[in-house]
Amino acid sequence: MLDQPAWSIASQLPLSVTGLCFNAGDTVLIDRLDLEVSHQGVTVLMGPNGAGKSLLVRLLHGLIQPQSGSIMWNGKRCSPATRLHQAMVFQKPVLLRRSVAANIDFVLGLKGRATLARRDELLMQANLSDKASQPARALSGGEQQRLALARALASNPEVLFLDEPTASLDPSSTQAIETAIGAASERGVKVILVTHDAGQARRLATDVVFIHRGSVAEHCSADVFFQQPASAVARDYLAGKLVI
Ligand SMILES: Nc1ncnc2c1ncn2[C@@H]1O[C@H](COP(=O)(O)OP(=O)(O)OP(=O)(O)O)[C@@H](O)[C@H]1O
Ligand SMILES: [Mg+2]
Repeated sequence: MLDQPAWSIASQLPLSVTGLCFNAGDTVLIDRLDLEVSHQGVTVLMGPNGAGKSLLVRLLHGLIQPQSGSIMWNGKRCSPATRLHQAMVFQKPVLLRRSVAANIDFVLGLKGRATLARRDELLMQANLSDKASQPARALSGGEQQRLALARALASNPEVLFLDEPTASLDPSSTQAIETAIGAASERGVKVILVTHDAGQARRLATDVVFIHRGSVAEHCSADVFFQQPASAVARDYLAGKLVI
């Protein structure tokens, strides 16, 4: 398969987060957060609005810097060097004002792997082959998100962050994105996925991290999380109660 990572699979694991704090002024947004992720598969971050999920993935990816605490990827401090082997997809696709194909070429070019075959395979996997020459921004929302994910995979990431990638998509686009996420995970890409969609978490998660008020309220296997969550907040959240 063309988009197999060229280096050893997920060598950035384990992820080890200790005492992570992120404040805005006097407001504590990430509060002494600890997290260990050592397994392959899809780690899902869940939790109520404003819990700190998006901040956490931005911190883990190195897009913002914490005030204190440490983030280690296989013993290496989170840095531009660790970020090179990671990719991120946001809820709202961020695309270049270029054609669909050029959006992929941009990443392949940066990585020095500009092969037409590789671009064609990525477009085929995203079911966008027939739109290759169209402007990326003229695509539908679901198509744009499929392109954003294809572009993220073009860099052969070891770690793929997805922050609510299907929140505004219909079921068929959601299914296409979930299939691509599952395939990436099977190839050995470590996936860290933020979602509010409990169905999606059940379909994809290996383990679930429940974030509440800027810390980890619970981290366990997906089976345990959905059958017997240990924390009251996770139980309430899954029962559809309002968790604040
Ligand atoms: N740069 C920032 N400066 C100040 N406050 C921020 C900043 N970024 C996020 N926040 C605040 O931090 C809290 C956590 O935000 P975050 O976006 O991580 O939540 P979330 O768990 O992703 O929520 P949602 O499910 O709504 O996406 C929110 O109260 C938000 O307003
Ligand atoms: Mg968010």
